[in-house]
Amino acid sequence: MAVAAGVPTPQVEPENPLTAGLERVPVAPTTLVIFGATGDLARRKLLPALYNLAHDGALPQRFHLIGIARKEKAHEDYRAECAEAIRRFSRRKPEDEVLTALLENVRYIPGTFDDESVYTKLAKTLDEFEQIAGEPLNRAFYLATAPNFFPVIVEQLGESKLAHHEGAAVRLIVEKPFGTSLAEARELNRRVLGIFDETQVFRIDHYLGKETVQNMLAFRFANGMFEPFWNRNYIDSVQITAAEDIGVGTRADYYDQAGALRDLIQNHMLQVLCHVAMEPPVSFTAEEVRNEKVKVLESVPQPTPEQVPEIAVRAQYAAGHAGGEDVPGYLEEDRVPPDSTTETYAALRLEVDNWRWAGVPFYLRTGKRLARKVTEIAVTLKPVPHLAFSQQGSLGVLPNQLVLTLQPNEGVSLRLGAKIPGTRMVIRPVNMEFLYGTAFLSQSPEAYERLITDAMRGDAMLFTRNDEVEAQWRICDPIVSTWARMPGPLPKYPAGSQGPPEGEQILREGDHWRAI
Ligand code: BG6
Repeated sequence: MAVAAGVPTPQVEPENPLTAGLERVPVAPTTLVIFGATGDLARRKLLPALYNLAHDGALPQRFHLIGIARKEKAHEDYRAECAEAIRRFSRRKPEDEVLTALLENVRYIPGTFDDESVYTKLAKTLDEFEQIAGEPLNRAFYLATAPNFFPVIVEQLGESKLAHHEGAAVRLIVEKPFGTSLAEARELNRRVLGIFDETQVFRIDHYLGKETVQNMLAFRFANGMFEPFWNRNYIDSVQITAAEDIGVGTRADYYDQAGALRDLIQNHMLQVLCHVAMEPPVSFTAEEVRNEKVKVLESVPQPTPEQVPEIAVRAQYAAGHAGGEDVPGYLEEDRVPPDSTTETYAALRLEVDNWRWAGVPFYLRTGKRLARKVTEIAVTLKPVPHLAFSQQGSLGVLPNQLVLTLQPNEGVSLRLGAKIPGTRMVIRPVNMEFLYGTAFLSQSPEAYERLITDAMRGDAMLFTRNDEVEAQWRICDPIVSTWARMPGPLPKYPAGSQGPPEGEQILREGDHWRAI
């Protein structure tokens, strides 16, 4: 393991020819500082990701972690909490040796985020690490706190002269949500960019760290066969679904303020849409890829308040049956106001009004407590113009459909029409399937593993740029504000179902949602 001095050597995975090409890029020595070090995100995602990177020998040669949170506690106690979180949430069962080596270099600083003395202690700890190393170390500040603390932390980092460091790179990683409206996002960008340079800022959208989301680009741009039909002449509609079977759980305080549109569509789903619709970038660099995504977002016409009811539907889950048990409705969940009008389901019909896509509906749908967890993109082609054998009973001929499943069973499936064996020309749809798991026989890393590594390497391709996040809000803002003016109660769908029947209202005549 390359965690630090005295750490065991990397594990050698058994030889597997199918994993050839799976490699790790070296990362410069870094101190990672997590603000909100005892929060849900740190415990469930960041610490387990760090453990798995350590396990794979993918952390820098010198790696230190500093956790900052409000509660007073000793370094030792924080290390024990880290170990507990890693044991509970890591995708691999942790090995003691790797874990101990990782935790050796962990420090904890207690205090509130507006307290100057926290930043003085932080500066001192960072210096100590550098003295031991005998060289300046890169610094990455990870804002894993509630979003209302982002501005104050950034300002304090600026005032304590921690935003830049002679001889080393300083980076700021900002969690979502990046604002709750266009105005807020702009204001936050203004404050962040008053202190850090855009090249130092890494705005997280964890969907971009998912292997399968990145694979969309490989699929489209490394295969010549898709490009000729990847446009309005051949594609009839695009459906993007991010369905979840879980409810709001313990996150009601956040979720009731956010709702499905802000929580998933404004960020993850619009990013997926960009991957489907973007033009091939000149090169796979952060700026080129993000330039292309911004062009897509800017081609989506901003809905007017009058259009909102035609293109957007919202609903809330009612009590039902999910995951083998009876579950309460959203309004009965802990800490949800009984008259809440926050949507747990949102569906949109958008257009990408450019040369390639004009007239093709892009349907986006997400919801909690739906029938199952599935994230997929379904691209439906136009029907064939003429069926020569229609006399022969070619019932069941459906247009080709390409389905890219991002989770849970990552893969690509192509619906084709095939002849049923026999003397007559009877056609029925069959699927040609490709599964990533079978092709590569390896477990995909968690999104956060990739994102933390990239941020430490200074590669911003999988992070949202300032203009990108604003372009996403530009699309969602009128929907959020129109909904806020519309009275409740919201349409309901039973937990564990396909969603509300109202979801169909925004579809073009003849179109249907795919079964979840
Ligand atoms: C988060 C949302 O960004 O994404 C959650 O805040 C949601 O509400 C989650 O459950 C879904 O992520 P994934 O990786 O499980 O699809």
